[in-house]
Amino acid sequence: MNNYAIILAAGKGTRMKSELPKVLHNVSGITMLEHVFRSVSALKPAKTVTVIGHRAEMVREVLGDQSEFVMQKEQLGTGHAVIMAEEKLADLEGQTLVIAGDTPLITGESLQNLVDYHRSHKNVATILTAEAENPYGYGRIVRNQNEEVTKIVEQKDASDYEQQIKEINTGTYVFDNKQLFEALKKITRNNAQGEYYLTDVISIFKEAGEKIGAYKLFDFNESLGVNDRLALATAEKVMRNRINKDHMLKGITFTDPENTYIDIDVDIAPDVVLEANVTLKGKTKIETGAVLTNGTYIVDSVIGEGAVITHSMIESSQIGKNVTVGPFAHLRPKTVLHEGVHVGNFVEIKGSMLGERTKAGHLTYIGDATVGHDVNFGAGTITVNYDGQNKFKTTIGDHVFVGSNSTLIAPLNINNNALTAAGSTICEDVPADSVAIGRARQVNKEGYALKKPHHPNNQ
Ligand code: UD1
Ligand code: CA
Repeated sequence: MNNYAIILAAGKGTRMKSELPKVLHNVSGITMLEHVFRSVSALKPAKTVTVIGHRAEMVREVLGDQSEFVMQKEQLGTGHAVIMAEEKLADLEGQTLVIAGDTPLITGESLQNLVDYHRSHKNVATILTAEAENPYGYGRIVRNQNEEVTKIVEQKDASDYEQQIKEINTGTYVFDNKQLFEALKKITRNNAQGEYYLTDVISIFKEAGEKIGAYKLFDFNESLGVNDRLALATAEKVMRNRINKDHMLKGITFTDPENTYIDIDVDIAPDVVLEANVTLKGKTKIETGAVLTNGTYIVDSVIGEGAVITHSMIESSQIGKNVTVGPFAHLRPKTVLHEGVHVGNFVEIKGSMLGERTKAGHLTYIGDATVGHDVNFGAGTITVNYDGQNKFKTTIGDHVFVGSNSTLIAPLNINNNALTAAGSTICEDVPADSVAIGRARQVNKEGYALKKPHHPNNQ
């Protein structure tokens, strides 16, 4: 039997107090909607329909052609939202998973269990539920004296007695597809919020004598529905624990897993060591044996085997084997460091390639440069790559020695084995094997200091 899926993502998310639609807020590096979509994909649905409305185009772009979309122009409630999918699904045989776009922690495995439970019990509707310590805000699962589910009641419609119920509706369900759309014809706006509630189909099925049931999640954390920024932070924390636990089981050392922030798509090899307050974002990849010390922040980069990154920031860059970086280095996009490079404190590099074993130990800016192997940059070297309008390139050969406080004015070529004198301003190409000196000669005025009032002789 075919599976179909409907993801509800049309709401504004008023309680988020945000310009961004709620389902586009990030949890561990991807939007809540993508988390939900990935879990849903575990079921391999024959069709996935996402209901969009508030800032529809923005939401559509996130899933692109992975999903079909239907518009819900006015957000009249979750039941109304599902009705929008009727044109795509109503005449199909099979079962349909309905899930809210704001429940990013529900796993694919739990959805599979829900579908299996639904099938083996031959239900018309099965609700994914959880036991909450504090159920406030969620729809509650009402059961009769035989423990059978009879209805779902929303927080705002719940009696005092019903508010005591701790079993909550996660907002995820499996339905017989055709019967779902039949039942939706009967829902009304007769409730505290004046909305068409999807949850009302449960009592409609029960009253018609259909078989309905609930599959309870083992872990309440999975069911978290994100309605405000407090819940968003909780979701982030739960996801962080999950991600970090996963990495630890795969052989990565964390000195403080509570305070290590790793996006969901980051790839880390065994025997990497991560100290506290390390942040790894986007599509970052860390190879085996690398050590990232406290405070290191890496975005969309590859860190090679055995590299040591000390308290530094790295963006969209590639760092080779056994490279050492930092403390306090900033590697900006398109930096490529080959094996054995050393980049020390207060060094900024952008759009540049440094060959094997090249060193820039202190206080240096390298921008738009191609640098050979075994080059040494003295402290305070600056590539002057920008004239206010255009950017220019610097090319440096192998075994070049750049003296401290050199100003290298691009476009510029410094050829193999050349040397620039400390304090030079270099604005013309330097041939191979030469020494370039571009600074004023020193003049000593003997005895002049004797005239100064600060001289010990004058006090
Ligand atoms: C809903 C459930 C509640 C459950 C909770 C779980 C209903 C009536 N209530 O409440 O029982 O405990 O989820 O998190 O279903 N949406 C639309 N169109 C709309 C309204 C909502 O697409 O017209 C989407 C929202 O974008 C969101 C999802 O549906 O992704 C859930 O809507 P939300 O308003 O957050 O429902 P809750 O009040 O949390
Ligand atoms: Ca919600």
